[in-house]
Amino acid sequence: MKKITIAIDGFSSTGKSTLAKELAATLGYVYVDTGAMYRAVTYFAMQNEYVSEDFLNKEALISQLPNVKLQFQFNSNLGFAEMYLNGENVEQPIRTIEVSRNVSKIAEISEVRTKLVEQQQAMGKDKAIVMDGRDIGTVVFPDAELKIFMNASAETRAQRRFDELIEKGQKVTYDEVLENVQQRDYIDTHREDSPLVKAEGAIEINNSALSKREQFDLVMNLIQEKV
Ligand code: DC
Repeated sequence: MKKITIAIDGFSSTGKSTLAKELAATLGYVYVDTGAMYRAVTYFAMQNEYVSEDFLNKEALISQLPNVKLQFQFNSNLGFAEMYLNGENVEQPIRTIEVSRNVSKIAEISEVRTKLVEQQQAMGKDKAIVMDGRDIGTVVFPDAELKIFMNASAETRAQRRFDELIEKGQKVTYDEVLENVQQRDYIDTHREDSPLVKAEGAIEINNSALSKREQFDLVMNLIQEKV
């Protein structure tokens, strides 16, 4: 079977990572969650007080970027790779609403994007990879054999993210989560560097009314045509 590159882009909380993880496990491919990398850099910036809700010290963060070491380590109990920042497992803290509130500001910085894109391209050089994010089909792997663009209504996505956060014991309201989803949509689609757009040749899937199973089967059929 031919090894391919699968690029999955789309708005936040469209279920990209759930789908990507399942595909990777089924195909025996590597899964890379690039959102986790932007979140880890954001967490680094928050810890060093380079960013907060109404403040950003871009120059300080850029000067410290060489000291930001990101690594994925496969956790066989969980069945996916966890994000490490300078040797520390940051899988939990990077998923908080506080990080979600700051991450778009960090993802707008070109120097951050250049560093992460280089690392992502290196991870995908041997193909057999499923990568999800916002710019995978447009910037990271424009030649990917299969590109998927995922979408769903903001309300559906906010409800999914809200349920996840509540399950993790975080104190948030649905309205806060909806506002965060809408803000991130705006910034992600309007930023100058690598805005979120459907890549050329990408297949769009609106999953507001699709079950996870239906979506998985749909994409597996697309993969069968490529391998
Ligand atoms: O997929 P996510 O919600 O965990 O991503 C977090 C943020 O990172 C999102 O608001 C946009 C940014 N991001 C990006 O700009 N480019 C990527 N390839 C992945 C994520």
